[in-house]
Amino acid sequence: MTTIDSGAAHPALKPLHAAGLDLRNRLAVAPMTRVSAAPDGTPTRQMAEYYAAFARGGFGLVITEGTYTDDRYSQGYFNQPGIVTDGHVAAWREVTERVHAAGAVTVQQLMHAGALSQGNPYRPGTVGPSAVAPLREMMPEYGGSGPWPVPREMTAADIDEAVAGFVAAAGNSLRAGFDGVEVHAANGYLLDQFLTDYTNRRTDGYGGALIDRLRLTADVVTAIRAGLGPDAVIGVRLSQGKVNDFTYRWPGGARDAEVVFGALAEAGASYLHIASEGRAWIESATLDGGATITALARRVTGLPVIANGGMHDPAQAAEVLEDGHADLLSLGHGALANPDLPRRLESGAALAEFDRRLLEPMATLDNAERHRRERAGAAS
Ligand SMILES: Cc1cc2nc3c(=O)[nH]c(=O)nc-3n(C[C@H](O)[C@H](O)[C@H](O)COP(=O)(O)O)c2cc1C
Repeated sequence: MTTIDSGAAHPALKPLHAAGLDLRNRLAVAPMTRVSAAPDGTPTRQMAEYYAAFARGGFGLVITEGTYTDDRYSQGYFNQPGIVTDGHVAAWREVTERVHAAGAVTVQQLMHAGALSQGNPYRPGTVGPSAVAPLREMMPEYGGSGPWPVPREMTAADIDEAVAGFVAAAGNSLRAGFDGVEVHAANGYLLDQFLTDYTNRRTDGYGGALIDRLRLTADVVTAIRAGLGPDAVIGVRLSQGKVNDFTYRWPGGARDAEVVFGALAEAGASYLHIASEGRAWIESATLDGGATITALARRVTGLPVIANGGMHDPAQAAEVLEDGHADLLSLGHGALANPDLPRRLESGAALAEFDRRLLEPMATLDNAERHRRERAGAAS
């Protein structure tokens, strides 16, 4: 349990107008896959309630779980939601209406899993930048097991279709009432596979030097911007670590970071969201030379930046905001343990510790609800 000094308002509770979003505070729910949609990718009532709870709990921004973008190779897990069909759009509209009714803004994370797909009813096999076997094994918490298949190298037509999928999905997100979209270029999924030297061995314009490996992400942002217009909110999520390679760091450190951030700002990104794991954010986000990766992103681009990684620690959260490392904070585990974390921060109430059993044996909403019921039963 962490107790908060309620004497002074926490800096995360200050409103913010940034990236075209009017936010009542600087606390965002990080994107979190819950593998709880219908088999055809339609979000459920249970999901609408799950997202609405964060809004009622005071979060300023609710970012959805990674949502697949096309009916070809983008889907990453069985029961992942999509934003492809009219049925998807209609069901997401219920989510956005409920989140808005509770005072929060909401952005949809758009995801193409690429080689890290472990459940896709649309197509057999996986695709990626090159036919390189992914590291480690599939993730049981999202229903996978055993080694990843070796992906088929994407053709130019596959790449065009993936980009078109992102653009169509982004248009669908806005039709569903989202306030913006976030392109998932982090954590080892398709766009990050292109960015990463050891998964991208291409010799065309999408491989080779860093700026060429970044091209697909930049193309996606440019194409969405062209499709949605100058006022649309288009965030990009990036990370150094990956779900199948936690300790990976960009080989050129701060130099690489400057190239990546600069090119994505130029492509038309509205904000950058830097994912990182762990409570000791200040250490894990520090680049050679001493700057933090998020402060560098702000300096290079002038765009609003979301920091992530253990931001439920009130002292760390205050330091990140007050020392200019980021504009906003996103919370994963801390938000799962405390869907009302902003309200608790306001009132000085204690925060609950995250309990791993919330996501076991799979990260579904059903498992979390069962765990909560069992805990409530044990306590009464
Ligand atoms: C159950 C679960 C699912 C996640 N799914 C996604 C996802 O769909 N997209 C994404 O970018 N990150 C995903 N993440 C990573 C989180 O957004 C976040 O970066 C990570 O949990 C570290 O933040 P924290 O220390 O606040 O938990 C997921 C994390 C968890 C715990």
